[in-house]
Amino acid sequence: MFIIAVANRKGGSGKTTTSVNLAAQFASSGLSTLLIDLDTQGHASQGLGLAGQVFANNIHHIFENPSLNILNMVIETVHPRLSFIPADINFIEGSQTIDANILHQQLQQKACASQYDVVVIDTPPTLGTVLLNAVVCANGFIIPFIPHHLSYVGIQQFIQLIEQHHHNSSSDYLLLPMMIEKRTLHHLHTLRLLQQDYGHDCLLRGVRTNIKLAEAFEAGYPIQYCFPKSPGAYDYHMLSEEIKGRWQMGTGEMPSQPVANKKCELIVKPPMTTRKRGIRLKQYQPGSCVI
Ligand SMILES: Nc1ncnc2c1ncn2[C@@H]1O[C@H](COP(=O)(O)OP(=O)(O)OP(=O)(O)O)[C@@H](O)[C@H]1O
Ligand SMILES: [Mg+2]
Repeated sequence: MFIIAVANRKGGSGKTTTSVNLAAQFASSGLSTLLIDLDTQGHASQGLGLAGQVFANNIHHIFENPSLNILNMVIETVHPRLSFIPADINFIEGSQTIDANILHQQLQQKACASQYDVVVIDTPPTLGTVLLNAVVCANGFIIPFIPHHLSYVGIQQFIQLIEQHHHNSSSDYLLLPMMIEKRTLHHLHTLRLLQQDYGHDCLLRGVRTNIKLAEAFEAGYPIQYCFPKSPGAYDYHMLSEEIKGRWQMGTGEMPSQPVANKKCELIVKPPMTTRKRGIRLKQYQPGSCVI
């Protein structure tokens, strides 16, 4: 089981968009996937069509009562191999003392490790012990960021946080440029600075600006089911393949048939060709940003 924390203290950087769509991509490629929403905004529920539901069991309960078992909190989504643990939108951090190891201990139980190939954790932007729980338990970090100067500073701060609080020497982080615009010089400049500082291999190929990603959240489906031919679906497909390769996460059991989504009856289609609707994409190369 490989645990991925999608994290950045900068708000609105694409953490939830990435958590939901990446988890859905992993699941449709055959990996048994658990998505955990650690953010009390509860936005991941929206991306799975579960908005407005009250969840009797949610992940924040373990911070109030660590003897509870997270496996009893799991909801099976309509998407094959994709399980979900929702957040408590009423949880107020700071009203209690929270041990930073609680989530780590829960995820290390044998029953959990044998059930899931990958766990994706959507994290809150606020620095607190809930976020530290994700930092402590993750095997790898994906740090989504919009390529602006303040994000550059925020990434430096977040990597320091990982180094201070993460005790597992095998942890690894990858930087994910979000909403990239190849004509925006400041984006290119920021990406070059990050490449210089962290090395070419740290930078993932990225996700372009695509309003279909926001629309898919409104519809309550991961992008691959809602708009399978969109640039967003293509980018998340390629991203999931890149991450599986980087972290050697295996392929799981590949579905023999295309996966039909029960609710909207869309068929998961292969990703777009490299040229579609006049959008010119650079041929995919591992480790290269699409710009
Ligand atoms: N590639 C993209 N193209 C267009 N819009 C995007 C893209 N990625 C994210 N968005 C939009 O940007 C907004 C912020 O994204 P998201 O909620 O994923 O960020 P976040 O980091 O989880 O925010 P928070 O810190 O509040 O939890 C959302 O409205 C989302 O739909
Ligand atoms: Mg979020």
